[in-house]
Amino acid sequence: LAQDAAAGEKVFAKCKACHVADEDKNKIGPTLKGVIGRTAGTHAGFKYSPAMVEAGKGGLVWDDAKLTEYLKAPKAMVKGTKMAFAGLKKDEDLANVIAYLKQFP
Ligand code: HEM
Repeated sequence: LAQDAAAGEKVFAKCKACHVADEDKNKIGPTLKGVIGRTAGTHAGFKYSPAMVEAGKGGLVWDDAKLTEYLKAPKAMVKGTKMAFAGLKKDEDLANVIAYLKQFP
């Protein structure tokens, strides 16, 4: 599936209440700057759920496939996550929002 970062910026509107992607600043959720390649639950200064910390200890690293799975159904993938978000249903929205996040390493 093609990734379109500009389209992904529009999808990211659904995340903005809780996340920034372009700077190192935690809000209700952790900053997503540099999230690609990050071990889950490890950004400094953010208080994650025990479930997310455990997932990271278990080897969860955020890549395209893992982000797609989490963002499709957060609570199904990381049982006990405190991210209050139902998930993105459209494959193109998932691909595009990940393309957007890749702009902020
Ligand atoms: C965690 C992405 C929407 C609140 C995360 C993580 C990712 C992510 C990748 C894990 C980060 C890490 O391990 O460091 C997104 C994206 C969203 C979205 C792309 C939109 C499509 C939201 C919304 C909220 C939210 C709307 C608030 C209502 C949180 C919280 C966590 C989190 C609280 C920490 C989860 C935990 O510790 O279990 N998000 N998120 N997110 N997000 Fe989101």
